[in-house]
Amino acid sequence: MIKFVDLAAQYSLIKEDINKAINDVLKSTGFVLGQNVREFEKEFASFCGAKYAVGINSGTSALHVALLAKGIGKNDEVITAPNTFIATCAAISYTGATPKFVDIDPETYNIDAKKLEDAITKKTKAIIPVHLYGQPANMKEINEVAEKHNLIVIEDACQAHGAEHYGKRVPVSDIGCFSFYPGKNLGAYGEGGAVVGNDEEFIELIRIYRDHGQVKKNIHKYIGYNYRLEEIQAAILRVKLRHLGRWNDMRRKNALIYNELLEDCDVATPAEKDYNKHVYHLYVIRAKNRQKLIEHLASKEIQTGIHYPTPVHLQEAYRHLDYKKGSFPFAEKYADEILSLPMFPELTEKQIEGITINIKDFLKAGK
Ligand SMILES: Cc1ncc(COP(=O)(O)O)c(C=O)c1O
Repeated sequence: MIKFVDLAAQYSLIKEDINKAINDVLKSTGFVLGQNVREFEKEFASFCGAKYAVGINSGTSALHVALLAKGIGKNDEVITAPNTFIATCAAISYTGATPKFVDIDPETYNIDAKKLEDAITKKTKAIIPVHLYGQPANMKEINEVAEKHNLIVIEDACQAHGAEHYGKRVPVSDIGCFSFYPGKNLGAYGEGGAVVGNDEEFIELIRIYRDHGQVKKNIHKYIGYNYRLEEIQAAILRVKLRHLGRWNDMRRKNALIYNELLEDCDVATPAEKDYNKHVYHLYVIRAKNRQKLIEHLASKEIQTGIHYPTPVHLQEAYRHLDYKKGSFPFAEKYADEILSLPMFPELTEKQIEGITINIKDFLKAGK
């Protein structure tokens, strides 16, 4: 059996440190917003090359408070990509703003910066580029458009911890939101997230919103949220953060092996732009006959995934936005073809060989 993500393989390598970190929290009985959260915030900000990070209880909440702290709300429009996880759009909707979509670049599968201007209206307040699968969107061009139209940029870096754009780790602009969902490149053992940024006032507002709008003990300036990161999760994240750079390199090595072994096959492999460092949260190919290929691989005990089979604008939840099939041709075409193959740092070359041999057998048989 080759798992899609093997969290047990990783745990077995760092078990002692993780168990000690959890036990220390249990002994301290400080479970919420304590020393580990504070230290993790400093360490993660430094990892990202940013001034500040605020620990949040999920990536979705991180996006929500980032939008709120930037004053996004009713009657505003926020542009994002239609092929993202629905959480990006849900966060926009929570604020009362309306998500607007722009089709994706066919090479990188990220939002097409060249099509952004067509979607900007008088109501547009912000852009949320999503660094999908671990590869940064074209932030250079996106930031140029944002500057020209005076728009806020909030990077959805939930799949891209440690990814780089022109040598700078994300977030490339001022604000980035991260998820620490267990399967992420940096994953908690439960839920977690962070807002990363450089502006002190903005970051202070995030801290206030995450803790019931509380500015001082029992002084609530706003109606905020319980979006606090737990100490146990922060303690786990601190242990794992020490390995993240190496784990990302291992993912990149695995992606290279996949690329080489699939070179002459009738499948599209990921295209990494030379100005980016992709961290391969997911290794996504495109294949014809995807469903049959999934079944073939499953019959050989190889797990796969689809991220994501239905673009957000075609989800029932967003029917009220009135987008039709055909609105975003690349996002829609690719949704029918994309297939995520097993990807995690501990995946072995032998396992990748096994996976690619089975893909080749399937293609040769012309199924
Ligand atoms: C692109 C993207 N945005 C947002 C999220 C939401 O993060 P979380 O699941 O931590 O709320 C995720 C995580 O799945 C994601 O992949």
